[in-house]
Amino acid sequence: MPIAEQTSPRVSSSSCSVALDLTWVRSQFPALAQSANGQPAVFLDGPGGTQVPQRVIDAIADYLARNNANTGGAYQTSRNTDRMIAEARSAMGDFLNCDADEIVFGPNMTTLTFAMSRALGRELGPGDEIVLTLLDHDANFSPWKALEEKGVTVRTVKFNEADCTLDMDDLAAQIGKRTRLIAVGYASNAVGTINNVAEVVRLARQVGALSYIDAVHYAPHGSIDVRALDCDFLVCSTYKFFGPHMGVLYGKREHLKRLRPYKVRPNTDNIPNCWEWGTLNHECIAGIKACVDYWEELGRRVETGLAPSETRQAASLQEDRAQSSVTRRDAILAAHEAAHQHERAMTEKMIAGLLAIPGLKLYGISDPRGFDHRCATFVVRVEGHTPLELATKLGERGFFTWDGNYYALNLTEQLDVERLGGFLRIGLVHYNTMEEVERLLGTLTEICGVARRS
Ligand SMILES: Cc1ncc(COP(=O)(O)O)c(C=O)c1O
Repeated sequence: MPIAEQTSPRVSSSSCSVALDLTWVRSQFPALAQSANGQPAVFLDGPGGTQVPQRVIDAIADYLARNNANTGGAYQTSRNTDRMIAEARSAMGDFLNCDADEIVFGPNMTTLTFAMSRALGRELGPGDEIVLTLLDHDANFSPWKALEEKGVTVRTVKFNEADCTLDMDDLAAQIGKRTRLIAVGYASNAVGTINNVAEVVRLARQVGALSYIDAVHYAPHGSIDVRALDCDFLVCSTYKFFGPHMGVLYGKREHLKRLRPYKVRPNTDNIPNCWEWGTLNHECIAGIKACVDYWEELGRRVETGLAPSETRQAASLQEDRAQSSVTRRDAILAAHEAAHQHERAMTEKMIAGLLAIPGLKLYGISDPRGFDHRCATFVVRVEGHTPLELATKLGERGFFTWDGNYYALNLTEQLDVERLGGFLRIGLVHYNTMEEVERLLGTLTEICGVARRS
């Protein structure tokens, strides 16, 4: 089906059209003011990990300075730690639109997914099937593929090589009455394709299979609503959306309660803690709360329509909350919508500019009619240059990009670029600017021109 005819996979309930206050946004991120080799640093490495607002740094430092303790103790700092973790869970619940006890914290998405695949694997064996996709990051592939050891059959879904969209016909064909789980990415961390995950969940439900959504790459680019999606599990990593290095798993309460995690005996049987092993990274959990606060404040500024030059009426986020009927969830949705509009405009400029560079091949959706189905993540190859050479030359000029496969190994293998060093990846998030896009395009054109002449 042509991209333009597909239903939009975006899940967004806000219709805000207020421009992002980029001056305020950028002032929140101290790292963005850095330079590299005498040039302003341009962070185009968001898909590998985004920068953090000052409030995240402050929250981490403050926790370590004042409340550093283990959980469950009968004293002040331990109680403060318990309270802080509960607040962070509730904040992530609003970010994903679920209840706090459906939020599991872990070191990263990969570890959480191995934990869940092992727990689900206890119930699976010969005759059971799992459906995976070749578009996914390996963290949503290998943990499930490992269940072949238990006799489970793994089926893989192809993607369309022309535009790197998931082959939904193949997906439907791989699903059958033996399917127990479908694991699919919300968005590709390489080619940027946004998958129609609502449809995948629907197909899974039709045969009584569980759905496991990897939203790691999607989370900085679009709002997530696990209730509207009705997915069984969804995972993301806070370091990809302006928080610290941690992973978060949403699981429907009924599954978190029924499934049996591998765990130590003294650990509680209560959810969600029974899924959280050992001592968590408390300081980073404090940072997660601050990260959601950032999204909320961004959204409240959007909701109140403040122009860059205007000062806010309220002195703090707490006052904003007290004075406004806008909920945290509403504010997060407004922030996502404003970020999306800005990223969309940058995507149009970036793709038009990349396609004009002689010898450059862009992989993924390039037709503007399909832009609702991609995020601002671009992979390219340029004749006469390896991706590593390009990333190195860009890095010397202050542009932080990435090269290789970014663990989207099935994709680079199928496109036969794995043996050639993969792709150069350029990733935009909402703190990037049009001016940065223009400078990147100019510099890349110059580098490629030099390569062709020499
Ligand atoms: C789409 C996607 N899924 C999963 C992962 C793995 O996440 P983590 O580093 O939290 O294990 C990444 C990391 O780059 C990713 O981009």
